[in-house]
Amino acid sequence: MRVLITGITGFVGSHLAEYALTQEGVEVYGTVRWRSRLDNVEHLLDRIKLVDCDLRDGVAVRRTLEEVKPDYIFHLAAQSFVPTSWKAPAETFITNVISQLHILEAIRELGLRDTRVHVAGSSEEYGMVYEHETPITEENPLRPLSPYAVSKVAQDLLAYQYHQSYGIYTVRTRAFNHTGPRRGHVFVESDFTRQVALIEKGKKEPVIEVGNLEARRDFSDVRDIVRGYWLSLEMGEPGEVYNLGSGKAITIRELLDLILSFTDIEIEIRQVPERMRPSDVMLLVADYTKFHKATGWEPTIPLERTIEDLLNYWRERV
Ligand code: GDD
Repeated sequence: MRVLITGITGFVGSHLAEYALTQEGVEVYGTVRWRSRLDNVEHLLDRIKLVDCDLRDGVAVRRTLEEVKPDYIFHLAAQSFVPTSWKAPAETFITNVISQLHILEAIRELGLRDTRVHVAGSSEEYGMVYEHETPITEENPLRPLSPYAVSKVAQDLLAYQYHQSYGIYTVRTRAFNHTGPRRGHVFVESDFTRQVALIEKGKKEPVIEVGNLEARRDFSDVRDIVRGYWLSLEMGEPGEVYNLGSGKAITIRELLDLILSFTDIEIEIRQVPERMRPSDVMLLVADYTKFHKATGWEPTIPLERTIEDLLNYWRERV
């Protein structure tokens, strides 16, 4: 079985590649661009096949799918940082939406009827959520609050539409926040653990810079999430959408407290205006019942272990 992972050199892509390699009879392919950094997949290079393909180039995408003829595609490549989408909304749309259109169009034109496509949506699609609307099911309204979130709604609905219009086998997931080793340093839990590691090494004054600590998020371990992605194509219904999360919300302040509980150093907390957003999503918490019923999936790794693994990852690198 041939599996193609877009964004294989990214955080989630590298974990999904590791998971896919544990499955019997699977060949793992991944798309890369000429300037992609390979650090995240260095340890996998003798077991995966990398294909040069910029997903924003429709001709290159078509050629890649013609060559690889994947049974499964996990489409993870994206501009995934919310604040960047305020600064570069058009770029975010081209990377996220147009690239996916190229994949779906190539599948349609090449007649790849048996190829299953997983589309990675996001809990950010729900955006403005009121307390009485939680936990969030797939039926909640989509009220995106950033260009990034709107791009994910577009990806999500395009996957739905291509299934309805052309019968293409798409399954959509809306994962809530997920983290673990190799998480990009701009995201909150990775940024905070990295700052702690720098402080421990004496490379930064004992002050941790933060933004909005009142937002609430639902964190899972990336290793649980990629197992869910795999199950979504194995057992999910084509055309359907599924939430993946822990079902528990914590404030960013509680997350920070948890991170600080792993260090002995006295650290001052300083809120800086540059870290605040034009509008923030204040509350995200998943109801993953639908996915559990379809696949039996549930999260297994406690947040404490995930955060400790992430902190140790940064301790080895700063
Ligand atoms: N990045 C960052 N840095 N966020 C901070 C900081 C800080 O110093 N201080 C507070 N926050 C708050 C943000 O305002 C936000 O409310 C929350 O921490 C989480 O921010 P991020 O880690 O940047 O992630 P996100 O929730 O915006 O988006 C992530 O999760 C989505 C799924 O829910 C990303 O991984 C998205 O790609 C993903 O779709």
